Amino acid sequence: MNTISPGLDGVVAAETMLSQVDGQAGRLIVRGKDIEEIAADYDFAHMAALLWDGLAPKFTSPAVIRRDLGQARLAAAALLPKLLPATLGLPPIEGLRAGLALLSDADCDHHLLCAAVPVFTGALWRQTQGQASIAPNPKYGQAEDFLAMLTGKVPAPAAARALDTSLVTVADHGLNASTFTARVVASTRAGMVSSVTAALCALKGPLHGGAPGPVLDMLDEIGDVDGVTPWLEKQFAAGNRLMGFGHRIYRTRDPRADVLKGVVAKLRGHRGSGKNRIALAEAVETAILAELAVRYPTRPLDTNVEFYTALALEAIGLPRELFTLAFAMGRVLGWTAHIFEQEQSGRMIRPASRYIGPVPEGGMAAAVAG
Ligand code: SDX
Repeated sequence: MNTISPGLDGVVAAETMLSQVDGQAGRLIVRGKDIEEIAADYDFAHMAALLWDGLAPKFTSPAVIRRDLGQARLAAAALLPKLLPATLGLPPIEGLRAGLALLSDADCDHHLLCAAVPVFTGALWRQTQGQASIAPNPKYGQAEDFLAMLTGKVPAPAAARALDTSLVTVADHGLNASTFTARVVASTRAGMVSSVTAALCALKGPLHGGAPGPVLDMLDEIGDVDGVTPWLEKQFAAGNRLMGFGHRIYRTRDPRADVLKGVVAKLRGHRGSGKNRIALAEAVETAILAELAVRYPTRPLDTNVEFYTALALEAIGLPRELFTLAFAMGRVLGWTAHIFEQEQSGRMIRPASRYIGPVPEGGMAAAVAG
């Protein structure tokens, strides 16, 4: 009888050309490149070209993708009069879920899907602040335009670059829960919009993409270095998971954590990323890693991507309520690439299960007769 693997832990469910997550070595390769190399050079359009190459209906260069995304942001903005009234009072992540559902599988392409995330996010946040939405500027890059639509100001180049680096760093990461969700829905030929909407719903969970906001809540609750130990004791006594730590695949440090720590260092002094904030974060990280090592000597639990993502997004000036939406802004590239790949492989995803419930006496005949 096949062995059951809770959470599909260790199960290889697909072959992919997109990314390899090496949990033992703490290495992430995307389309043959180490994430550190990508993070140093790539912007959103270059990452889109890398991930969509050979999978999207036609190959387009980063320059053409940048142009197409700019036009797609204008098309997404045309949907705001329909979206905003319907999402009044909803948290932004649920507003984005509603916004994606407005798109049609029949006539929405991957550019519009990718463009809708920043356009809807900026407008949804401004709506919660009682502010009118800001029109996209198709001449900008995706990250730059998002910041402009969020704040109404031309973003500082350092902030736009930092956001670009964050988006490309989280763009793809093997069969994580949201990407696997996208592939399951795509495998039934439901369409790209349905697949991405389902993926966003999976990403929303605090065990997956919903962790960065709570990382800042943790730092706020701890307050200063002296507060670390009592706070940790309380969390462990309550059996709480520490956001930003642990990973299903990595048995060592998530390589993206250091990429994003580098982003934070570059933004030093730029809003929220003052010396004290980074010093507190490093002290909290050190204390948590030491405590986790004591409590879980046989299960390495290290810093994951979310811990320094939270500090990077705060330093860029994003409100923590938008951290998961920013994660989706980058991951939508991976979702769309995996959907293309799944549609090419064609096999519907349908694992088996083992029934452990009651069986009526005498099998089906008796049941029907009965
Ligand atoms: C992402 O898969 C991906 O690639 C995801 C991601 C991506 O790019 O898509 O990398 C993004 O989701 C990063 C993870 C963000 N989530 C968090 O930071 C939330 C906190 N982390 C955990 O909840 C946890 O580490 C998971 C969910 C990420 C992974 O959990 P697993 O693999 O299911 O591990 P487990 O639940 O089997 O835990 C093993 C033990 C357990 O102890 P026992 O119940 O056996 O006593 O380790 C403990 C857990 O309680 N543990 C933690 C912990 N993570 C695991 N204890 C305290 N704090 C934690 N963070």
